[in-house]
Amino acid sequence: MKTIREPHLMQRQADDLRLGGKRIALVPTMGALHGGHAALIREARTRGDAVVVTLFVNPAQFGEGEDYGRYPRDIDGDVRLASGAGGDILFAPETAAMYPPGYRTFVNVEKLSLPLEGAVRPGHFRGVATVVTKLLNITKPHCALFGQKDAQQVVVLRRMVRDLDFGVEIVVVPTVREEDGLAMSSRNAYLTPAERGEAPALYRSLRMAEELVRAGERSAGAVIAAITREITGRSSAAIDYVSVADAESLEPLSTLSPGASVLVSLAARFGTTRLIDNIHITL
Ligand code: PAJ
Repeated sequence: MKTIREPHLMQRQADDLRLGGKRIALVPTMGALHGGHAALIREARTRGDAVVVTLFVNPAQFGEGEDYGRYPRDIDGDVRLASGAGGDILFAPETAAMYPPGYRTFVNVEKLSLPLEGAVRPGHFRGVATVVTKLLNITKPHCALFGQKDAQQVVVLRRMVRDLDFGVEIVVVPTVREEDGLAMSSRNAYLTPAERGEAPALYRSLRMAEELVRAGERSAGAVIAAITREITGRSSAAIDYVSVADAESLEPLSTLSPGASVLVSLAARFGTTRLIDNIHITL
């Protein structure tokens, strides 16, 4: 796999690929790659002639006091995993190349950036939308792949790509989980063994919620209460939010009606480690 560090060299490479009639598939990441990222890269391999994996820990999407400084970094491991999964090019720019002195331009997807993760992490999606805009302009892909693990990110980026006419196809890949159900995440590395033992409570609570709904429960409040009970009753986690919302508008639902496309999502903290998970239910 070839590594490129300079945005203008990546742009030239993308132009050459396009001139040669190649389809470019993009997988943006912040590194510390795991099986979830590998699934995105493998899917990209089936959709593109050239698979570009980007590795950039984007300071603009971290809030003050968040884990930017201690975010896990392992470029050698990342190169191995990305090339093993079928990556062709690793674009790994320096921070100063992405945000040089005098940088002033940000992309804000209104409304959709505000609830859920946006409420707990103000400015997070402004940072995500901005860096993904830059990565799309630098790597010029035909399609870009994202994980359902970050459901709101997908909703925000789909809207942005439509609103700003990026002309790129957004492909969403299902959440990859550990055997006990815990969604794979670079942040799982922060968990102590005891917290790691408790963390599967998140997905367990979501599966239980789905069973409740399938059994006829139609009250969002009852679903949220059941999830909260399951997590706080059987782990030491502190819940940031549990939400039952329309999967596209992210508006909270009070009743689950027939035909609804529902995003059940949550964020919880195990000690200092913040984890998110979600499931999508179509009624
Ligand atoms: P990062 O957290 O590294 O995730 C990169 C991509 O991998 C995202 O699309 C994310 O949804 C996906 N992913 C992470 N864990 C996954 C899992 N268990 N199963 C499936 N997909 C998973 O998300 C970001 O980086 C950043 O916000 C980024 C889009 C790169 C912009 O900086």
